[in-house]
Amino acid sequence: MTRPIIIDTDPGIDDAVAIFMALASPDLEVLGLTTVYGNAKIEVTTSNALALLEIAGRSDIPVARGASRPIASDYLGPADFVHGEHGLGQRKVADPKTSPIKDDAAEFIYTSALASPGKVTLVPIGPLTNLATALQRHPDLPELIDEVVIMGGNALVPGNATPTAEANINNDPEAADLVFGADWAVTMVGLDVTHDIIMDHACMGRVTGTGTAQAQLLDGALSFYREFVEQVAGIEGIFMHDPATIAYVLNPELFTTVASPVRVETESFSRGKTWPLLRPTDMAPEAWQGRPNINICTEVNAVEVMNLIEELLVG
Ligand code: BDR
Ligand code: CA
Repeated sequence: MTRPIIIDTDPGIDDAVAIFMALASPDLEVLGLTTVYGNAKIEVTTSNALALLEIAGRSDIPVARGASRPIASDYLGPADFVHGEHGLGQRKVADPKTSPIKDDAAEFIYTSALASPGKVTLVPIGPLTNLATALQRHPDLPELIDEVVIMGGNALVPGNATPTAEANINNDPEAADLVFGADWAVTMVGLDVTHDIIMDHACMGRVTGTGTAQAQLLDGALSFYREFVEQVAGIEGIFMHDPATIAYVLNPELFTTVASPVRVETESFSRGKTWPLLRPTDMAPEAWQGRPNINICTEVNAVEVMNLIEELLVG
């Protein structure tokens, strides 16, 4: 039996890797891609999502366009220094022949959940604006969803967008605080684990050397991303942030987790920081009281996650 998922995404170089992994897995059924601003503007991320499906020969999968800006603040702007001018490196991919469906992202998420109550897993790998919008419009959404597996946040480690905040959460802290506060099963796959999952040069070579259309796209994109990561983090390889969510969905046993409510800072210089409670709930300060436990990934078997990523991308 396959597990139905919706990937909410801002492609994005590591988004592309995650999407190709999910499409390659016999255990997953990608019901749709919903798009969000983030790594690039919404026009670009939506066009990229359509193009990625076309490249993978899966234009049968719908794309629903989502938010162009956060729910309560201004868009911080494209991360072109990380993902290139076109979101997938410096080379522009060919314009897709297909178009997004009529429903927007929040509506697609809700109607998909209604069609299969309790079955659908949401995998947001961009800012959490679409999920927050869906929650605001449809307060019954949480009871219709199986699980939410988020790439975002930093529980016990520094941020990447700022010293305190991870990029996806930093893009829309108010939305993230709503999503972490709703009554559904949420797993946070944040920098605590994704900074340990590194695709090295040899693996990059194997992934981009398969001769497929996906490999050709990744060849240009990964080398751009590699330059940025190596300069900033001083490592030899690239972080597999978004692919970690797909690995978690496929094999949660590769991750160690801790259960704790999470609040998201929305003020001042630590805006976007995810704060776990990490103490008994009867000792919770008011801000954490009444909040559900989040399944926070704190450690990962990075070798096995990389094996899984490679197995899906290379075969
Ligand atoms: C996250 O931010 C984006 O740049 C990546 O695509 C990933 O979703 C990592 O912090
Ligand atoms: Ca992303």
